[in-house]
Amino acid sequence: MKIVAIHSKKTGSTHAISQMLLEEIRRLRPDAEVSEFSVAGFKPCVGCFSCFAKGEETCPHYDSVHPLITAMEESDVVVLDSPTYCMGMSGAMRSFTEHLGYRWFAHRPHPAMAGKIGVAISTTGSMGAGGVTKALKAQFFGLGMAKYFRLGFAVMGFDWKDINPKKKARIRRVVRRTARKIAAKSGKAKRGVYLRLILWAMRFVQQRNTWFPLDRQWWQDQGWIK
Ligand SMILES: Cc1cc2nc3c(=O)[nH]c(=O)nc-3n(C[C@H](O)[C@H](O)[C@H](O)COP(=O)(O)O)c2cc1C
Repeated sequence: MKIVAIHSKKTGSTHAISQMLLEEIRRLRPDAEVSEFSVAGFKPCVGCFSCFAKGEETCPHYDSVHPLITAMEESDVVVLDSPTYCMGMSGAMRSFTEHLGYRWFAHRPHPAMAGKIGVAISTTGSMGAGGVTKALKAQFFGLGMAKYFRLGFAVMGFDWKDINPKKKARIRRVVRRTARKIAAKSGKAKRGVYLRLILWAMRFVQQRNTWFPLDRQWWQDQGWIK
């Protein structure tokens, strides 16, 4: 079982909960191989459309984003975490996820994503973590992944070491339950009907795709269209 955890940063409550999840999964599956990355300092997409039109390797940020995208494609479980900032995800995580666009189902979805599990993690002072995990889940859906878990917590504080121990224990229980589900589902997850329907309909769009020939070529190379 391979897991990639992509963190907004290497400190804070959100990171601590990601580590808690990795620890719980490792306890259940000692064979789990975990790779971790931080997107702190990542540059946002410049909107050049180069990844769509000329290939992802022409992206000005290819060197920083490519190793993470490769790790996602090679893992069974993908963890994305972000604190809640002004009711949204961190700028760093947004900067990273913007670079996933060419792998969305309307472009060049990677076939390896089909059986993968995504875990979206966020903490907030009081409000907004649900919106952040929902936005991260949308990334998993766009990438064509099979199953998603959302872990959003209102920690009522700004330093993990000061968070109420009762709250931490409750978080641990929820995280443990999710780890059990992930360990049981890993390698067996299947896409839902809605996503399969979208991918099926997308074949007709790609057959007529004259705007991004690289995308159409990808669909042909995968054997999804003639
Ligand atoms: C710039 C900034 C914006 C924030 N915005 C919100 C917010 O919209 N709602 C909220 O309840 N807490 C907000 N908070 C509090 C954080 O979401 C909360 O402390 C979170 O647990 C921080 O996660 P971290 O420890 O992983 O950095 C904000 C904190 C910062 C620094």
